[in-house]
Amino acid sequence: MFSRIASRLHGETNALYSLRDSLINQGVPIQDLISGNINAQGFAFPQEELEEILVRASRQCLVYQPDSLGRKQAREAISEFYQDREILLDPDSILLTPGTSLSYWYCFKLLADEGDEILCPQPSYPLFDYIALLSGVRLIPYRLDETENWAIDIDRLETVLSTRTRAIVLISPHNPTGHVASPDEISRVTDIALRHDLAILCDEVFSEFLIREKVLPRPAGSAAPLVFTLNGFSKMFALPGLKFGWMAVSGEQARVRQAMRSLELISDTFLPVNEIVQAASPEIFRRGENVRNDFTRRIGECWNVTEEHLAATDCCSYVKPEGGFYVTLRLNGLEEEKAAEIILKRNRLLLHPGYFYDMEPDHLVLSFVQKPEILRDVLSAITTTLSDLRRNSPAISAGIPEEKR
Ligand SMILES: Cc1ncc(COP(=O)(O)O)c(C=O)c1O
Repeated sequence: MFSRIASRLHGETNALYSLRDSLINQGVPIQDLISGNINAQGFAFPQEELEEILVRASRQCLVYQPDSLGRKQAREAISEFYQDREILLDPDSILLTPGTSLSYWYCFKLLADEGDEILCPQPSYPLFDYIALLSGVRLIPYRLDETENWAIDIDRLETVLSTRTRAIVLISPHNPTGHVASPDEISRVTDIALRHDLAILCDEVFSEFLIREKVLPRPAGSAAPLVFTLNGFSKMFALPGLKFGWMAVSGEQARVRQAMRSLELISDTFLPVNEIVQAASPEIFRRGENVRNDFTRRIGECWNVTEEHLAATDCCSYVKPEGGFYVTLRLNGLEEEKAAEIILKRNRLLLHPGYFYDMEPDHLVLSFVQKPEILRDVLSAITTTLSDLRRNSPAISAGIPEEKR
């Protein structure tokens, strides 16, 4: 009765999540240190302001008048957001979506036929596997190099291209490594896209959360033939429940026009973006600027606390993230799945082993965006447990230089 795709949608629950579920069933409270939902960590758009904005917006929507690209005023507000960052993106080349995840699906449908290939970074956030499965495209990983601060291994990227490659996904800031693509990496990826006539899908959902740089390097406005810039309100304004995102298309004019014509029809088939939210979006951009700046500052502080703590421990190493919400700890020999299980049992903290992200199996991933009052305790609990594990594994301790033991 069901499709082949449907039968592939039910993965087995992994051992870590089985353990978490059984602890929760026993009434043990578990602190999730991996969820990207920052509302749970006390980051929220001020409620009264949001209420006012939504009520006013609802009055503009008494008569349903859908626009398949999305309301013009919303697209203009998005265009202004980029203009303030010196990127020119025409409002008519912007399509509203209910979030970046669906933007990916649109792009995959637009660019690739069954069996065509899309290049995705490895390690990577696991979202793409299902989008690829649902859209019938093949994901081909390209490597981010941990020894080079998780930079894109451009030479290796070229070797995985094939005649079926249609696009390169670039995530910057990247989840979970925190890597921000440099102008040089972007120019080299752009050059590959140009030579092989490929589109670039640039996921910038963490664009507002930079740790080192002030300005995010972007492929929009480069010489690439076609660039899709994906973003939305879920992280930018801590409004994941509003389900408001967009894709801004730039590149060769004829290609952009053709892409927009097809996207308009794809979107018209579903008209999936809530009208009231669309009408509210210009004011969210306007009144939310201070809110966004405040989030950026507070998340920067979370990282400072985390860095201070990690610098004082030798139970693991890490590459300093340049943006986003996550840090990846390198365990230098400890077994990652076992470490995650012990931290879950002993400290009641859920973090992820690196293999969830197709990393080499020697890592733990956690979000440092936590309530300030728990962040220090949580970090202490993790590093104490890791140090204990290391002490109890003489073979591993033996591998660590004397001064670091
Ligand atoms: C890199 C990345 N892209 C996209 C998304 C999903 O974004 P949205 O909430 O706009 O669908 C996430 C969610 O955490 C993410 O980490």
